[in-house]
Amino acid sequence: MAILIKNGTLVTPEGLEKGDLLIDGETIAAMGPDISAPNAQVIDATDQMVLPGGLDAHTHFELPNPTGDSADDFYSGGCSALAGGTTTVIDFIAPDRGESLLKARERWVPKTEKASVDYSFHMNMPEFNARVAEEMKILAQREGVSSFKTFTAYWPTLGIRDYDILNILKVSGEVGGLVTMHAENGDIVEALQREFIAQGKTAPKYHPLTRPPFVEGEAVARGLALAKAAHQPLYIVHISTKDGLEALTRARMDGQVVYGETCPQYLALDDSCYDAPGFEAAAFVMSPPPRPKGHQEALLNGLSAGLIDTCATDHCPYRMDTQKIAGINNFTKIPNGAPTIEHRLGILHTLGIATGKMTWTRLVDAWATAPAKIFDLYPKKGVLKVGSDADICVFDPRQTEILSVKTHHSRNDRCVFEGFEQKGKTTLTIQRGRIAWRNGELTAQRGFGRFLPRCK
Ligand code: URP
Ligand code: ZN
Ligand code: ZN
Repeated sequence: MAILIKNGTLVTPEGLEKGDLLIDGETIAAMGPDISAPNAQVIDATDQMVLPGGLDAHTHFELPNPTGDSADDFYSGGCSALAGGTTTVIDFIAPDRGESLLKARERWVPKTEKASVDYSFHMNMPEFNARVAEEMKILAQREGVSSFKTFTAYWPTLGIRDYDILNILKVSGEVGGLVTMHAENGDIVEALQREFIAQGKTAPKYHPLTRPPFVEGEAVARGLALAKAAHQPLYIVHISTKDGLEALTRARMDGQVVYGETCPQYLALDDSCYDAPGFEAAAFVMSPPPRPKGHQEALLNGLSAGLIDTCATDHCPYRMDTQKIAGINNFTKIPNGAPTIEHRLGILHTLGIATGKMTWTRLVDAWATAPAKIFDLYPKKGVLKVGSDADICVFDPRQTEILSVKTHHSRNDRCVFEGFEQKGKTTLTIQRGRIAWRNGELTAQRGFGRFLPRCK
């Protein structure tokens, strides 16, 4: 049955427009004032915002770790996404070093059979050699996996040398891909970790002290220098510091094509989260960590000004009871990551729109349109446009919600935004024409999510 959303405020790249939106099957069929469709299911959106469904370009569902996979799979993570208005994710295939990238891609297929949101993939790049170069070509040109994540930290599993990053950038350019980067100086992190552990400083509160802000600033600048040397664009993931933002902006002003991403945890949390009593601070062990006060405002301003392009989540929920506990005597053994996918829009609205620091058009750009463009999913995804997939989020700015582990839809046993007073709430999420969330009721469907190949 067709669905007609009436009297909402539609947010499109052109601006805000009061009107209706008609969905026929899986696509947006019409937008404008006074649309009538006699047989459609009518949903009233008076005084509510009508946005494209969110595109979260950075998630880790079922990500392997020595303590077990991250707690959300492609179904439960998708449910958590849908409850917050996100309808598409780009997750990561994580090959072991030495493993064929194509084999790893096959290994990820069964995980996605239960997907409740549409999904695409980035490929982690734990090494570079001739076989990897050949596989990058096949991935980008045949398999639709055209973005490659490099790491300058996480020795000895994921981090690679600058020389290898340079080669990955060059090959990516040849095959029509885009390189992304986790930018932290891994050697400084490792040296500080050894120092802290040797001094008996083993509690989770020491995690952020081994990754001070300049560790990110240096690695972002270095990554961008490599991109410049290779004459290639680069997308920096999860920027958490003013230092990283400044390095990105310098490269932009220098004429480089670069992209930056931040996440809600770096906007809403500061390093006082590590004052949590006992082992509770482990819930906040993620890399990069939430930063000292001041960085949050700089990032929000950068996002608002478009100096940071996207807001993703890096949703990577490791549980306290069975997983983070592995680091009870040594914070370096705590699996890194937190559940954040559900609250991206609510936090952007609370910190950006409700404070008057961001426009709705810019919010929607960071939330859906910019990631869709950067990662070749536009205009199928990321925009309210006739002919685009009917991925819709209706958001009521008047409602409020106190965020809590008791109400979130992730399988994780902590919410890093516990107690946060969110202004506004997602009241309706439609995914490819199907209602998946309405007024607090989740109607997500296991297996409805579809793979989105991305080829130039
Ligand atoms: O702590 C984090 N962010 N874990 C997920 C993996 C990554 O670095 O993005
Ligand atoms: Zn990362
Ligand atoms: Zn990540």
